[in-house]
Amino acid sequence: MSLVVFPFKHEDPAVVRRNLEVAAQQGSIEAVWAVAAEVGASLEQVEAIGREVADVSGRAVSVFPQERLGDLRPGKGDGMNTALAMAAEHDFERIHFYDADITNFDASWIEGAEAAADDGYEIVRHRFPRAATDAMITWMVTRPALAMTFSGTILPRLGQPLGGELLISGGVAKALAADGFVRSRSDWGIDTVITYATAVMGAPMYEHNVSTGKRHALYGSLDEIRDMLLECLDAVRSLAGKPFPPPHARFAADPPAAVPEDLKSVIGYDVERTTALLVADWTDEESDLARSIPGDISSHVLVNRDTPSFEFMDAAAWGVTLSWLLGSFRLGDSNWESLAFRLWLMRVLSYTSSEVPKGYDNAITYLEEAILRYEQAGPAIV
Ligand code: DGY
Repeated sequence: MSLVVFPFKHEDPAVVRRNLEVAAQQGSIEAVWAVAAEVGASLEQVEAIGREVADVSGRAVSVFPQERLGDLRPGKGDGMNTALAMAAEHDFERIHFYDADITNFDASWIEGAEAAADDGYEIVRHRFPRAATDAMITWMVTRPALAMTFSGTILPRLGQPLGGELLISGGVAKALAADGFVRSRSDWGIDTVITYATAVMGAPMYEHNVSTGKRHALYGSLDEIRDMLLECLDAVRSLAGKPFPPPHARFAADPPAAVPEDLKSVIGYDVERTTALLVADWTDEESDLARSIPGDISSHVLVNRDTPSFEFMDAAAWGVTLSWLLGSFRLGDSNWESLAFRLWLMRVLSYTSSEVPKGYDNAITYLEEAILRYEQAGPAIV
């Protein structure tokens, strides 16, 4: 029997209720856990929802706060690791993880993952279409960095390496719970580290396509995901020098499906408010760091101390810049953090203004082709 885990923080209670109900109603599900990022009103509210869902469904629904397990900012990683540590003490056959804020979560997510697990896949990752200006950390940081670092393996091919939606076998959960590298990653970097750790295990892996896409609240200014960007950059950087996933592991994926038309026109973030972040509050130290970006990129970047400028940050310039960041970035250093965030904004804004206006299909093809080029260039891109 299976367990479903939802890490949550301050999600819309109606969305959380629906998601707990969906999970608790599935025949294959024995227990549902919701793990809170912090104690307080949100936890109490979900505890009450959990009791009601348990009464109606007859399933075991537990709502509890995460423990402090890792070494970095206490965040989603502590939540997932708390669930992994607890699950390792039980004998669940399978464990599903889902972000609690998915607004189109339904039985097909659980059924799709269970069907692949029935076929012998120990890791089932959900992949789904996203708006052309959503997933900007995935497209601009995680997938390019995995392509440069683990060229020729399955890692650059995974659609959602930051996806919090996956199924793992009980055995994989026990192995993750015992892995100190995974346990120490308490912040937004957890998804990257779990993606790597499960790939390197070499267990059979499947990508299940949710063709309706993952619907969730989108962003105002990209400042809202600044911490996520910095922590995901640090996480992928922490993989440098680690072993490659084995080449012959069993891997399969659902074929691509048509993308819903309404998703194609969703705007992922507020361009005007995001552009304003390029010029705000440069320090002398940040300017000094920017001067060591290779080639003529640094002079273009420094224009932003006075006027927003991002057109120059095309896929090639970003490859050089990201490779430089992977070698030098320091999480926790405010000047490095400010510069890395701004450089990523330049890349996202450049892509948004040059490729997105040509239409959804063009934009996604362009992004996929850029990943292939980063993979061909490998780590020697600078
Ligand atoms: C990503 O890039 O995938 C993050 O979820 C932010 O959208």
